[in-house]
Formats: sequence, structure tokens, C-alpha cells
Amino acid sequence: MNKKKLITRNDFLKKLSVMLSGTAIIGLIINYGKTLSRFFNLNKIIPVDIRHINNHFYENTHFFVSKNNNKIEVLSKKCPHLGCSLQLNGDKTAIICPCHGSRFNLKGKFVSGPAKQDMKRYNYKMDSDTIINIEVEG
Ligand code: FES
Repeated sequence: MNKKKLITRNDFLKKLSVMLSGTAIIGLIINYGKTLSRFFNLNKIIPVDIRHINNHFYENTHFFVSKNNNKIEVLSKKCPHLGCSLQLNGDKTAIICPCHGSRFNLKGKFVSGPAKQDMKRYNYKMDSDTIINIEVEG
């Protein structure tokens, strides 16, 4: 015998209201987190000793630092297309994205690929003659 479980209209409405309430609560929690991060600076400060910038270029997990004629630029390693981690190419003449092939010059200028925009730059502050503090997203 085929036993079908019938649901009453009231039961359906109760379940629907519980699901909608849960969705609303999750939305509030996510939105609350975004609001909190706007009021409190959750970014990280990473110090870099610029004496370690060999061959005018330094790389860590978050950024590239280029130094030319005492001009320092800090470029995010996050691809402006969809966020993959950018890498130096084999002969260290360009920055490339392994995901979809976007290409940038060593100053972060867009050259080719789907990114269609320059690499993001991070702000930094000189802490001393040799240390810069770089602010990256937390
Ligand atoms: S994520 Fe870098 S090109 Fe798509």
C-alpha cells in the first residue's frame, strides 16, 4: 500500500515561516559582519624591510613590492578578474594569472586577458628608513 504523507496547509505555512525566518536571521548575521568590518579596521599591517627587495622586486603571499629609483609600489597578488593568486612568470618579466591567463607588467598595469584592469595597489607607510608597513585586507 502506498502511504503518502499529507501535509496540512497549517503545517506547510509553519515550515515555510521557519525557513523564511532562518534565511532572514542568516542574512542579518552576514550583513552585521560586513557592518562591523566597516566600523573596525580588520586589515592586517605587514612590515617589510625594503633592504630585502633584491633585483627591485619582493614577493610574499599577499603582495608584490617593486622598487625602482627609490619609488616603491605594493601590488596585491589577488587577480582583479576573479581573485586567483597572481604569480611572476618564469623569466620574471611579467605577472600572470594561472587561472585564466591575464597578464600584467611588473608595475601592475594590465597587458592582456580577461581581467581588463590594473592590479590593485596597497597603501603603505614608511616606519623607518628601511621598514614599510603595508596594510592588507584582513
Ligand atoms: S582570475 Fe585571473 S584571469 Fe581570471
